[in-house]
Amino acid sequence: MKEDPIRVITIDGPSGSGKGALSFLLSQWMSWNVLDSGAIYRVLAYSCRSNNVDLLNENRVAELARDLKADFQTAENGEIRTIFQGFDISDIIRREESGKAASKIASMPRVREALVLQQQSFRKAPGLIADGRDMGTVVFPDAILKIFLSADESVRASRRYLQLMGKGESVSLARLRGEIELRDKRDISRKVSPLVPAEDALIIDSTNLSATEVFERVLDEVSRLKIT
Ligand code: C5P
Repeated sequence: MKEDPIRVITIDGPSGSGKGALSFLLSQWMSWNVLDSGAIYRVLAYSCRSNNVDLLNENRVAELARDLKADFQTAENGEIRTIFQGFDISDIIRREESGKAASKIASMPRVREALVLQQQSFRKAPGLIADGRDMGTVVFPDAILKIFLSADESVRASRRYLQLMGKGESVSLARLRGEIELRDKRDISRKVSPLVPAEDALIIDSTNLSATEVFERVLDEVSRLKIT
């Protein structure tokens, strides 16, 4: 008898829409694994910089992507730390500059192709919460539940601003808003795996919702679909 595939819940959306908070709460509640696919693109951008690889050189970036080995370790407080070549680079790759570099290389078809299998390898029992831009459309099209989070641009910029300030990065809100706008435009308009909701996604506008309210809305759906 064929075994049922390991279940996946995907959470896609633009930066600052609340994906990270939702995947954290959901993965803790369900005791499922979590994939922060954006962190993989960020580590790759970091690897390009440390290997002096030009972000526009698709062949070289794809080569690095094929060999990329990042380790994601869960700390005692549930936070996921990114370890690359023996170093904890979590704080470095969270900077907005790193998000910008990640989004540049993420528009390259060969780079995306090289990272798909690596992302799919996170699908382990008892289940996976996958956060990103193309989780429901490309990487896990058979996900049991697909969430697409959106929120007004100014609210998303403020959330990112508070996150970065909380991590000790001093940024200007106006500049951050401009950078996020550019990054989203690039993510939405790229030819491969653009940032769009899957046809069967549940779209939640989190503009006026707290992280807990979004989580509760998703839990309603989880219980309606009897995913536990
Ligand atoms: O989610 P995060 O802000 O960490 O992602 C950084 C960048 O990586 C995004 O702006 C996007 O360009 C890229 N990305 C992607 N596909 C994913 C996850 C992230 O293209 N599944």
